Amino acid sequence: MASGSTFAHRHILGLEQLSREDISHILATADSFKEISTRSIKKVPTLRGHTIINLFFEPSTRTRLSFEVAAKRMSADTFNISPSTSSTTKGETLADTARNISAMHPDIIIIRHACSGAPLLLSRCVKAAVINAGDGAHEHPSQGLLDLMTVKERRTTLSGLKIALIGDIAHSRVARSDIIGFTRMGSAVHVYGPSTLIPKGIDQLGATLCTSLEEAVRDADVVMTLRIQHERQNDPLLPSLREYARQFGISGRILSLAKPDALVMHPGPVNRGVELPPEVADGPQSVILDQVTNGVAVRMALLYLVMGTS
Ligand code: CP
Repeated sequence: MASGSTFAHRHILGLEQLSREDISHILATADSFKEISTRSIKKVPTLRGHTIINLFFEPSTRTRLSFEVAAKRMSADTFNISPSTSSTTKGETLADTARNISAMHPDIIIIRHACSGAPLLLSRCVKAAVINAGDGAHEHPSQGLLDLMTVKERRTTLSGLKIALIGDIAHSRVARSDIIGFTRMGSAVHVYGPSTLIPKGIDQLGATLCTSLEEAVRDADVVMTLRIQHERQNDPLLPSLREYARQFGISGRILSLAKPDALVMHPGPVNRGVELPPEVADGPQSVILDQVTNGVAVRMALLYLVMGTS
C-alpha cells in the first residue's frame, strides 16, 4: 500500500489543485487497494471508527454508490443525505447545513451539488475533509482519476497518448477534470462536439479543438464520449438527439479511424443510441465497466489519503 504521509491535500476539490506527483501517488494507492474488492471478504480495517457523510444534492448512481462501497470496504461508518431528506428544502443555507453536520464531528464529507464551488464553500465551513463528487460544470475529480487509472492500466503510461473527448464539453465537469488530468499526465486531449456545446477558451485548459469528428478520433488511443447535460442547459442547444447521434455519435466506422486497440470510454450514464450505439458501448474495445470498477479503488485511495492529512 502506498504511504499516505506524502499526500498534503486535506480536501479534494478538483484536479486543478493536484500536481502530476499527487495524481501518480493517488493512482498508485488506488492500484494497491484494487485487489481488496476481489477478495471473498471485501473489508479491511483501515478507516474503522471514522465517519463519512455522503451529501448528494443531485442524482447519482455510480459516484454515490462507489464512495459508499469504498468507505464500507475500509470499515468506515457511512451516512447518506439527499436533498429531499435535508433541511435545505426548508430554506436552510448550505453553509448552515454544513455547520450542523460539522457539529456531529464527521471525518469526511463527500458532496455533489449543482452549483460550481459548493465543495469549496463547504470546506471553509467544516473541520472534516471535503471531497468533491461533482459540482455543476466545474469538476468531478474522482471521475477524472478513475478515467486516468483505467487508461494507465491498459497503456502503462499516460504520456504521449491521444485522447479524443467528444460531446457536451461546455456543461461537463467530467470534461474539465479529464482535460486537466490527462494533459497534466502528458496526454494530448482533442475535443469535438456541437459548436453550441464547446466553451470559449477550451485551449486555455490545454485541449485542442478539432474541426471534425474524424479529425478528433483519427489515431486516438482513447475515445471518450460525454452525455448531453440537459439539466445544465437553459435553452435547447441541439436540434434533436437523432441529429446529434448522426453527427457526433461514435459509430463502428468512426471508431475504425482510431488506433486498432483504442479504448472506448464513457463516464455514464450512457444514452444508448445517442453518444454510442450498443455495438460500440458493449463492444470489445469498451472499458466502460472497468471505469466503474476502478472508481471504487480510486475512492478508497482518496478516503485513505485525506484521512492521512488530518
Ligand atoms: N459518472 C457519474 O458521475 O455518474 P453518476 O451521475 O451516476 O454518479
